[in-house]
Amino acid sequence: MWPFSGKESGFSGSSTAEEVTQGIDGTGLTAIVTGASNGIGTETSRVLALRGVHVIMAVRNMAAGRNVKEAIVKEIPTAKVDAMELDLSSMASVKKFASDFNSKGLHLNLLINNAEIMGNSIHAFKDDIELQFATNYLGMLDIYREEVYI
Ligand SMILES: NC(=O)c1ccc[n+]([C@@H]2O[C@H](COP(=O)([O-])OP(=O)(O)OC[C@H]3O[C@@H](n4cnc5c(N)ncnc54)[C@H](OP(=O)(O)O)[C@@H]3O)[C@@H](O)[C@H]2O)c1
Repeated sequence: MWPFSGKESGFSGSSTAEEVTQGIDGTGLTAIVTGASNGIGTETSRVLALRGVHVIMAVRNMAAGRNVKEAIVKEIPTAKVDAMELDLSSMASVKKFASDFNSKGLHLNLLINNAEIMGNSIHAFKDDIELQFATNYLGMLDIYREEVYI
């Protein structure tokens, strides 16, 4: 049997982020959402902002990130959302992101490791490391290692 049938929580695979967070007040919390420029990362950012969380959208494409931020603020005028540049496949970018985040003096409560690449990048390399391994595994570990304050 599929272990996440939702029978225990009342939610299922078709539940939305808004349904799951209904009634939760995230005011005072800070979240980093990687890969927030599209897909599930965008929706996660939007709903966390809707619940009052200060959302740091960690994005590789800053133009796309700013567009998402604008759309969220247009829908939720009270939203606290920032777009910050992060390329998880580059150690230099991870270090810079962690340093920039730490200089904001924010306490990190939620780290949503959403960004990923899959399949078609195998055998591509950056910094001498296979790209999928660098992005999906090393980059995320490096965020912790760079002592983002949690
Ligand atoms: N969609 C599904 O049905 C599904 C099901 C199960 C699990 N998931 C998981 O949910 C997560 C999001 O899925 P999704 O469908 O929303 O994926 P998506 O639309 O492909 O978005 C992936 C995000 O990751 C970002 N990204 C890729 N490489 C990056 C890098 N080196 N540095 C920083 N960001 C990078 C992309 O940024 P760019 O825009 O710059 O490329 C994009 O914003 C993934 O972890 C996926 O495995 C998804």
